[in-house]
Amino acid sequence: MNGEEARRVLREINRKFVERYERIDGSDEFFIYTARRLRQSIRINTLKAEFEVALENLRRRFELEPVPWCREGFWVSGGRVSTTLEHALGVVFIQEAASMLPVVALEVEPGMKVLDVAAAPGGKSTQIAQYMGNRGCLVANEPRTKRLSVLAANLQRCGVLIARVTQMDGRRFAEFPERFDRVLLDAPCSNAGMVRKSYRYLQAWGRRRAKKLSKLQKQLILAAYRALKPGGVLVYSTCTLEPIENEEVVDHLLRCTDAEVEAVQLPLRSHPPFEEFEGRSYTSEVRKCLRIHPQDNDTEGFFVARLRKP
Ligand SMILES: C[S@@+](CC[C@H](N)C(=O)[O-])C[C@H]1O[C@@H](n2cnc3c(N)ncnc32)[C@H](O)[C@@H]1O
Repeated sequence: MNGEEARRVLREINRKFVERYERIDGSDEFFIYTARRLRQSIRINTLKAEFEVALENLRRRFELEPVPWCREGFWVSGGRVSTTLEHALGVVFIQEAASMLPVVALEVEPGMKVLDVAAAPGGKSTQIAQYMGNRGCLVANEPRTKRLSVLAANLQRCGVLIARVTQMDGRRFAEFPERFDRVLLDAPCSNAGMVRKSYRYLQAWGRRRAKKLSKLQKQLILAAYRALKPGGVLVYSTCTLEPIENEEVVDHLLRCTDAEVEAVQLPLRSHPPFEEFEGRSYTSEVRKCLRIHPQDNDTEGFFVARLRKP
């Protein structure tokens, strides 16, 4: 499929999406990759199995290609992992390769107190607990009842023993200042980066929703930052490429607080973040964030910011 064909396919489902993203990344590659299906990827869960043993067993049935930025991550071809015993037992977790990045950037350690503000279905919470070796405390929060049960099931399947599951609006964490060594805010977003997973995200996409979400994200990031201990790290991430949900939210935090952005150095390609977009200018510190377009590494679109409280 060339650029024009990809635009046509996407336009037939949501014309406004194509118009909007022409402004954000008007390249042929962007539309070609956005229209293309995602590769299947997994994370090996070392809470449930020895890494080398699990890898060896999987290699007998699948072709595995390492994800360069996550030691436990692999792209898989040659069959469906979702039907395997390893999946049922929580030895593997099906997780998009770009979505492994925020927890890698969070740099958790065993014994820490960690908050995952928006945790369901649990891809990143289970990854956090894995890196903590099930030592310390993880508060995995999700306000929506339906999604909460999926989160709990995934934590259990993956052998996570350190999670306390809470059901609150994430903005309420502002009531618990300076409690956590690490906070992850993988925010609710307009999901443009997920179009490759399913065109239902393309159908559901709308600008009004993105604007509404931007307001919520600004409130959530302030609450998340407040819950962080001095010296602690907050990672803000989304699976959208909309500047008002990314650079603008980080810019808002930097204007309202003393937060500092730290560069995330990982072996991957990315796009320069926007310092200016549609007449709004953002602090040049946003340059240190990771803006990953689908064509950069053949993944979902993703945005990751690593922020430290001095
Ligand atoms: C991108 S998803 C999180 C994915 C999850 N981190 C993972 O890796 O599996 C965003 C989540 O935020 C939740 N959410 C929506 N509004 C929220 C709020 N006000 N506070 C906290 N979470 C919220 C949604 O229900 C959704 O489950």
